Amino acid sequence: MERIINMETIRVASLFCGCGGMDLGIQGDFTFLGKNYPQLPFKVVYAADNDPYATTIYNNNFEHKCVTKDVRDIVPSRIPDHDILLGGFPCQSFSIIAQNPQRLGFKDERGKLFFEMVNVLKEKQPRFFIGENVKGLLSANEGKAFPMIIKEFENAGYHVHHKLLNASEFGVPQKRERVFIVGFREFDDYFNFRFPQPNTLIGSKVKLKQVLDKDANKEEKWFFSQRAVDGMMRVREKMNKGRVQDLEQPCNTISSHLAKVSLNGTDPVLMIDNRYRRLTPREAARIQSFPDNFLLDTVSENRQYKAIGNAVPPVLMWQVANALTKSILSTSNLEAEQEQYYLQGV
Ligand SMILES: C[S@@+](CC[C@H](N)C(=O)[O-])C[C@H]1O[C@@H](n2cnc3c(N)ncnc32)[C@H](O)[C@@H]1O
Repeated sequence: MERIINMETIRVASLFCGCGGMDLGIQGDFTFLGKNYPQLPFKVVYAADNDPYATTIYNNNFEHKCVTKDVRDIVPSRIPDHDILLGGFPCQSFSIIAQNPQRLGFKDERGKLFFEMVNVLKEKQPRFFIGENVKGLLSANEGKAFPMIIKEFENAGYHVHHKLLNASEFGVPQKRERVFIVGFREFDDYFNFRFPQPNTLIGSKVKLKQVLDKDANKEEKWFFSQRAVDGMMRVREKMNKGRVQDLEQPCNTISSHLAKVSLNGTDPVLMIDNRYRRLTPREAARIQSFPDNFLLDTVSENRQYKAIGNAVPPVLMWQVANALTKSILSTSNLEAEQEQYYLQGV
């Protein structure tokens, strides 16, 4: 059994890779708000998503290229060998915000897409996997969906940890809560893994104002028209629209709905000099902790909002991947020690 992994080549396959938030986070080697997130020992060898705009952004930012493909058309045995499988499987049907139509959870076609991840695990048996999803996954289908999902992963041969992480407690200027599911083929790996510790110290959170672009305040195109404001005011109380953000706090969760950039959405908006302003795609990317050298503008602004809103914050993913790296090292060290022990004939 291969146990000690060459730390330079932990090969990653990434399903539902989107524009690459998880993939950037797991590889590391980027800077956000002046802080360096060093390279980690992971290397993406395969990535796929069926949204051609998200994959265009992806392919402009990574040396390796992803394929634009529906995961249901992927033949697991043809995916290159890998040590870890990633999957931020689509969350729409599990989301607590998807009230209309009602939450369908795993009865919905999109809710079933995680089975594609399970099929790859069954066939390829990588040493680890990381899944990511919305908080609503924990309570979907009256709490029945999540245990079923975990059982499926266990039936594929994995020991599974999961934890709800709030991105704002890991250096991301956003109150984004997401469930991370980390699976281990080997019990020792499972035993050694600890999720990263949140920083809950007062004053430790990155504030929204730290990532806003002052130049955008000078451009009329980012402000809502008086007509849009009047329309929103009529329904604001009842519908909780026009959610102006506190600049001294991390931003509320941004989603792919930002693509619609309407004041009548439930997405965060800014109040600048008594006027409602939308976030620019670059501000949305910073709220998600993408570095400023991450290229966005090869697709339309609407497509940028969608891909960015869907992404896993790279800094949050880096923290999880860094914790996994530490646990791999401790497993390897333990094994090296045990080997010494046996060699010495003790
Ligand atoms: C939550 S997002 C994943 C975000 C990505 N992991 C990241 O960090 O940027 C879910 C992704 O699944 C993709 N998707 C949805 N249905 C799909 C399908 N049938 N085949 C492939 N990708 C699909 C969407 O295009 C979207 O990019």
